[in-house]
Amino acid sequence: MCGIIGYCGPRAAAPILIEGLKRLEYRGYDSAGINVEHDGAFQLIKRAGKINDLRAHVPEDLPGHTGIGHTRWATHGSVTDTNAHPHTDPTGAVTIVHNGIIENYQALKNRLEAEGHVFVTETDSEVVAHLVADMYDGDLEKAVKEAVSLVKGTYGIVAMHIDEPGHLVGARNGSPLVLGVGDGEMFLASDVTAIIAHTKQVVYIEDGEVVSLTADGYHTTDLRNNTVVKEIDHVSWELEEIEKAGFPHFMEKEIFEQPESIARALKGRIDPEYATGHLGGLNLTNRELLDINRVKILAAGTSYHAGMVAAYVLESLARIPASAELASELRYRNPIVERNSLYFATSQSGETADTLYAMREVQRKGGRVLGICNVVGSTIARESDGGVYIHSGPEIAVASTKAFTSQLTALYLFALIMGRMRDMSYEQGRRFVEALEAVPQQIQQILDDTMPIQALARKYARCENFLFLGRGINYPVALEAALKLKEVSYIHAEGYSAAEIKHGPIALINPDTPSFFIVPDDGLRDKVINNMKEVKARSGPVIALAVEGDHEVALIADDVIYVPKANELMYPFLMVVPTQLFGYYCALERGCNVDQPRNLAKSVTVE
Ligand code: AGP
Repeated sequence: MCGIIGYCGPRAAAPILIEGLKRLEYRGYDSAGINVEHDGAFQLIKRAGKINDLRAHVPEDLPGHTGIGHTRWATHGSVTDTNAHPHTDPTGAVTIVHNGIIENYQALKNRLEAEGHVFVTETDSEVVAHLVADMYDGDLEKAVKEAVSLVKGTYGIVAMHIDEPGHLVGARNGSPLVLGVGDGEMFLASDVTAIIAHTKQVVYIEDGEVVSLTADGYHTTDLRNNTVVKEIDHVSWELEEIEKAGFPHFMEKEIFEQPESIARALKGRIDPEYATGHLGGLNLTNRELLDINRVKILAAGTSYHAGMVAAYVLESLARIPASAELASELRYRNPIVERNSLYFATSQSGETADTLYAMREVQRKGGRVLGICNVVGSTIARESDGGVYIHSGPEIAVASTKAFTSQLTALYLFALIMGRMRDMSYEQGRRFVEALEAVPQQIQQILDDTMPIQALARKYARCENFLFLGRGINYPVALEAALKLKEVSYIHAEGYSAAEIKHGPIALINPDTPSFFIVPDDGLRDKVINNMKEVKARSGPVIALAVEGDHEVALIADDVIYVPKANELMYPFLMVVPTQLFGYYCALERGCNVDQPRNLAKSVTVE
């Protein structure tokens, strides 16, 4: 989704802005621009298309030490040069970049037009530049505060005024904004990845706060001008982690990192003496944990699928009713929040608007929400009542892969803790820990030989429709496999419970529509095999993802991919990896932009 970068300091601003925008590319965007101040004039360059197109229009020696940049993911107005940010007021004295949605922009625009303002873009954001210019009487910070007070909606804004060279003002409500504190230079960005090449000292700006910065310093206030004292945080990510390390794409790199990222999510979180887990950030005593009688996992997309798997595991280990809830739906349903329910807001980015707002709604009703996040210091991580970092390291590819398996790891540990407080014996706990600790090595085995999956992708990548079918704990894996394939390869794919196809989807079966079955050696295996036969009987191609040694499956399916034998609760980890690779290789076969699929954003910060 849209990205922001701002710089003030002694260095040339343009290369820093362009490099920052490149690092934000992964969020998804369709146009980009920068505006740099030099000698009392702005130099505004913006283009629909990729950052390389923009770069081609920026002179290498563009002078100026203060500037702002933006990647736009269109919401209001089509993808054109004019609609790209930064925007200016009609006099060109004020320039702004904006993430989020100004919900009352039409009313504000009507009012400004009645006063003679002429708008040149179709965006909601342009009104902010006009409002700041309207309010300006020699104090940019004051003008920004007055302008945003009139705005309804979400924003992360950075503004400059031509009469205040070397000065940036940022404001936040609902869209992330982080200040980077350098040595004699300052940065503002929507995401730390844009600035960690320059500084790891950051200050997270909160909703309702305004930050005013020059090369030498900054101060933070609220909209009523009260000073807000903020702590400087240290970002632990290394620059190399957001680079490709020799892989052609981030998606492949991230799939291959999973043995390591899962091991990291487990590190220091197993208590062998009691065969249980240890999650320090839960902020709950054992007595409080014992009182919990329902668990709900709020999430979107891939994180929701991880939540569905985890709910299954929680019910099975701890016998606690558990479910995953689409955050976008829960929020508007007037949810029933019970005293002894525990909620998890599960989000890789920690910035997904649907999940954040669902979390706030539950908290408003008095519910306790813990975060399961990857991005340290993200909004959900900060606003939750406790939680667990999954420690995947930066996930840059838009299609989420390693975050899924690390989310599972964290939630499995929670299920283990709850299970060991209730139904599970020491011996059951010990076996579960052993099985969980074996997962990284088992995934490594899959990754060591990807040739069969590549061959499968070559064979099927031209199909236009796919079904992914699984049951029980692997039903969400089928949903996730379908999501991955459609996201990166644009092949239409649906995930279903294998049992459900006879209730409708079986009408889709034909020789051009492959069905990809997930066939673990669990209690539902024979049922899934029957469903495979039903598809074969209707001339549908069948692919099976089965467990090593299952020769019967090979007699029915046209193609089989094997995963190592494991504890049956661990199959979601092992089954999802070949489907991630399958999606990736199909996308390559089809020449798709794997890391930045069309129309998608990594961090969906609007509703
Ligand atoms: C997955 O590949 C996605 N691109 C998307 O579904 C994602 O999982 C969803 O937007 C939620 O993101 P989050 O985990 O950052 O909250």
